[in-house]
Amino acid sequence: MGELVMRAALSAVLGILLITGCKSDQRFKYEIKEFQVPLDHFSFLINATFNIRYLYNDSFVDKSNARTPIFFYTGNEGDIELFAQNTGFLWEQVEKQRALVIFAEHRYYGKSLPFGSSTFNTSMPEHLAYFTVEQTLEDYAMLITYLRSDRQMPVVAFGGSYGGMLAAWFRMKYPHLVTGALAASAPILQFPGITDCDIFYRIVTSVFENAYNANCTVNIAKSWKLFETLGGNDAGKKQISDAFHLCSPIKSDVDLKKFLDYIEEVYSNLAMVNYPYNSSFLAPLPAYPVRQVCYYLKDLHTGDGDLLHAMSSALAVYTNYTGSSKCLDISSNSNADEAGWNVQTCNQMVMPFCSNGTETMFRSSAWNFKDFADKCYKNYRLTPKPYDIILRYGGRNLEAVTNIIFSNGLLDPWSGGGVLQSPNDKVFVIILPEGAHHLDLRHSDPADPPSVRDAREKEAEIIARWIQEF
Ligand SMILES: *[C@@H]1O[C@H](CO)[C@@H](O)[C@H](O)[C@H]1NC(C)=O
Ligand SMILES: *[C@@H]1O[C@H](CO)[C@@H](O)[C@H](O)[C@H]1NC(C)=O
Ligand SMILES: *[C@@H]1O[C@H](CO)[C@@H](O)[C@H](O)[C@H]1NC(C)=O
Ligand SMILES: *[C@@H]1O[C@H](CO)[C@@H](O)[C@H](O)[C@H]1NC(C)=O
Ligand SMILES: *[C@@H]1O[C@H](CO)[C@@H](O)[C@H](O)[C@H]1NC(C)=O
Ligand SMILES: *[C@@H]1O[C@H](CO)[C@@H](O)[C@H](O)[C@H]1NC(C)=O
Ligand SMILES: *[C@@H]1O[C@H](CO)[C@@H](O)[C@H](O)[C@H]1NC(C)=O
Repeated sequence: MGELVMRAALSAVLGILLITGCKSDQRFKYEIKEFQVPLDHFSFLINATFNIRYLYNDSFVDKSNARTPIFFYTGNEGDIELFAQNTGFLWEQVEKQRALVIFAEHRYYGKSLPFGSSTFNTSMPEHLAYFTVEQTLEDYAMLITYLRSDRQMPVVAFGGSYGGMLAAWFRMKYPHLVTGALAASAPILQFPGITDCDIFYRIVTSVFENAYNANCTVNIAKSWKLFETLGGNDAGKKQISDAFHLCSPIKSDVDLKKFLDYIEEVYSNLAMVNYPYNSSFLAPLPAYPVRQVCYYLKDLHTGDGDLLHAMSSALAVYTNYTGSSKCLDISSNSNADEAGWNVQTCNQMVMPFCSNGTETMFRSSAWNFKDFADKCYKNYRLTPKPYDIILRYGGRNLEAVTNIIFSNGLLDPWSGGGVLQSPNDKVFVIILPEGAHHLDLRHSDPADPPSVRDAREKEAEIIARWIQEF
């Protein structure tokens, strides 16, 4: 069960990236270019190549300045255009620094597929062999080397979430190429043995506890038992399906489990995008959506029918805010990006999740690496290496690291795996008590809480200093 919980939380991150895909919000403009990279940077035998995409905007650059800064977004698990549209902070700083803007697309995502449409074909598992953090960072290193041919241009890496992890690791491994990195909501410590596996769900729970009143999490915690009891017979399965207007009614225990996993994912997503203004990042949502959800759960429900009805209204904040959803579709897989992230969890990005069951509003679930690894092998012929990332990037041993800003919102469930204490005076830790998932990377908004404005101001100052000192 552990791996399913983990998958749920991880695809929650993905969820964000996938749904931002709607092109309606083309706030920022750029040219789209391609760059040729070796398929395998670490072999002298394999000489195949493919192209990654990157976004390019030099409109702000002062052409007379040989030391033009490059703002380099280290693309994460999705189409790079999504990140460009959701990283307003970078665009706001570009104007001040007259920087060159680059958003690099991560290999195996978006249109940067090394084997085209057969990249994820399960009958060719060998296609997944070049899908690692190290290959990706090497792509970015080559691209930067190409872009700043005379080596006079300072490079600042930016990234949020997994992209923030990449920005941090990029600075750690290539300090000669990257002057500094802003790693927003980057859970680089969410790995086995160095962070408690239940931290994510504990934070989600506390966000819900504090959103409206204490009945919210009590109702949610009770609902699992209700769903399981009802789900035990056909009439109950139908009752759930009707209450939630499911597109495909629950017919089996497998269906029931999918439904419960889906709800769990929705709670995690809600906590992540609990932004102070309405947004359409993950789904169209009101400002502070968790508060809205908990508003529907403000009374303690003792009757099954009441609770079911209240849960359905609460969930609709997320699934049907616009009122345009005809039925609730809980099958949210089958696209390239989710496929990509699931592969990464099966090689290096082994992030354990679990829940105690009494300390959180979630079901009890254990982290079981063996089950997880078996599934990875079955699905992809991959054997995950749970300690690979710690071996390569040091885990909590960050004393030698310099020029990285780690920013974390304390309302973000991923902050549990973030760097919250600075190892030295060259690493900056910025805490946003009222911040959700990389809120500071987004465009400024009148509804931003003061801690986010302060964070952006500090980040801008540090970045300006790195550029000056370069
Ligand atoms: C770069 O961004 C600015 C501001 O959004 C926009 O006016 C300009 O057209 C963009 N340049 C390119 C080449 O897309
Ligand atoms: C690899 O390099 C050799 C020698 O230059 C060349 O003959 C061969 O076609 C190359 N293979 C690929 C896949 O590019
Ligand atoms: C995957 O590859 C196999 C073997 O080459 C091929 O027969 C199959 O059609 C491919 N599947 C898809 C979905 O492209
Ligand atoms: C967000 O709020 C603004 C102003 O209140 C409104 O114009 C816009 O339609 C809202 N967007 C969504 C997605 O609800
Ligand atoms: C929880 O709900 C009950 C009514 O069902 C209400 O009396 C009580 O005040 C609520 N608790 C809180 C903390 O608001
Ligand atoms: C979404 O909201 C509309 C309007 O309230 C309603 O007619 C519809 O049934 C809702 N869809 C779902 C899946 O609940
Ligand atoms: C959950 O935590 C409580 C209190 O810390 C503890 O008593 C209980 O044994 C734990 N339950 C499980 C399933 O680990």
